[in-house]
Amino acid sequence: MSRAPGTLLSVVGARPNFMKLAPVARAAARRPGLRHVIVHTGQHYDATMSDAFFAELGIPRPDHNLEVGSGSHAAQTALIMQRFEPVCVAERPDAVVVYGDVNSTVAAALVAAKLGTKVAHVEAGLRSRDWTMPEEINRVVTDRLADWLLAPSRDGIANLRAEGVPAERIHLVGNVMIDTLVASLPEARRCGAAAHIGVQGRPFVLVTLHRPGNVDAPATLRVLLDTLGQLATRAAVVFPVHPRTRARIADLGWQPPAGAALHLLDPIPYLETLSLEEQAALVVTDSGGLQEETTFLGVPCLTVRPSTERPITCTEGTNRLVKAEQAAILAAAGEALAAGRRPARPIERWDGHAAERILEVLLGEKSYQV
Ligand code: UD1
Repeated sequence: MSRAPGTLLSVVGARPNFMKLAPVARAAARRPGLRHVIVHTGQHYDATMSDAFFAELGIPRPDHNLEVGSGSHAAQTALIMQRFEPVCVAERPDAVVVYGDVNSTVAAALVAAKLGTKVAHVEAGLRSRDWTMPEEINRVVTDRLADWLLAPSRDGIANLRAEGVPAERIHLVGNVMIDTLVASLPEARRCGAAAHIGVQGRPFVLVTLHRPGNVDAPATLRVLLDTLGQLATRAAVVFPVHPRTRARIADLGWQPPAGAALHLLDPIPYLETLSLEEQAALVVTDSGGLQEETTFLGVPCLTVRPSTERPITCTEGTNRLVKAEQAAILAAAGEALAAGRRPARPIERWDGHAAERILEVLLGEKSYQV
C-alpha cells in the first residue's frame, strides 16, 4: 500500500453481512478524516431480513441501495455488478470492503477489481471444499481478487498459502462476527426472547435451516422436518424459518405432528437470536455464523452438513457435523443433550477487536501477517 485510504466503501447484501459490517462501521466512525460509504445491494430486502439488523446493530443508513432483490445466481450477481459499477466509479473509493461469501460479495469484488480498485475481503480463506455450495465458489473467486485477505483463523491462512496467495496480503485479524456478539450480549440478555416464545426455564433446541442442500430437495427437507417433530417430543424446539425454507415447507404441505413442542417462527432479529443461542441446550443448524457463535458461547451445536468451512469450530469448539438423516441427528442430539455444556475454549483473536485490526491493516498502521 502506497498511501492510507481516505474513503472505504463497504458492500453488503444478505443477512450475515450485516453483523460483519456493524463493528467495521463503528471502528471506521472512530477515525477522523476517514470516509466510510455503505452500499446495500438489496439481495435481502424483507424488513425482518435487513432493516431490523441495521436498526438494532446501529449501522448507519446505507448511502446507496441497489435494490436488486431475488433471482437466479447469474441474474442476481449480474444485476449487482451492473448497478454497483457506476456507484463505485462515482464514489472513487480507495478500497472496497466485501464480507463473507454471498453473491453480493463476489459481485462487488469483481466490479472493483476490474475498475482497478483495491479489494479487502473480510472472512478470507475459509474453505469447505464442497464445490456444490454457491458460497464456496464465491469465497474462492473473491479471495483470488482481493488485495487484503483478512482471515478469521489460522486454517484460513493455511488454505490461502496453499493456493499461492502471497503471505504479505494475508492478515490474521480475527472474527468480526464475534465482535458483534461481544458488543451485543448484554442487550441480548435483556430482550427476553425465550419468555416471549414460552420456553423460558425449560431446555430447548434452537434450529435454523436454509441451505439449498437441506431445504431445496423435498425428500431431504421432509426427513429433516420429521426429525424435528421427533426431537420436539423430547425437548421444546424453536425454529425461526428463513423465507427460502418457509416457501419449501409450504410446497411440501408439511404440518408439525399434533402435540409436538415445535415453535415455527418468522425470522427473528439478531439480539433475540443471540439470546436464544446462549440459553439453548442445543443448536441444530446449517448456518456458518451459528457454528462460530455457539463455539464462542460454549453451546453444543450440530451442523447438518457434510462439511464445514469453519473446521476450527469442530476441532476447538462445540460443533459437530451430522448427516441429514433422522437416526444420525436424533442420536447426536441425544448425546449432546445428555453431555450438556462444556466450558468454551477461547480461539485466537476471537476477542471483540477484529474490526479495529481490520482498520489498522487497511489504513496501513499495522500488519497482522503470521
Ligand atoms: C443467502 C446466501 C447464503 C446465506 C443466506 C443467509 C448466497 C449465494 N447465499 O442465501 O450464503 O447463508 O443468504 O440468509 O448469496 N427471500 C425473501 N426475502 C428476502 C430475501 C430472500 O423472501 O429478504 C427469499 C426469496 O424467495 C429468495 C430466497 O429467499 O429467492 C433466497 O434468497 P437468496 O438471497 O437468493 O439466498 P439465501 O437462501 O437467502
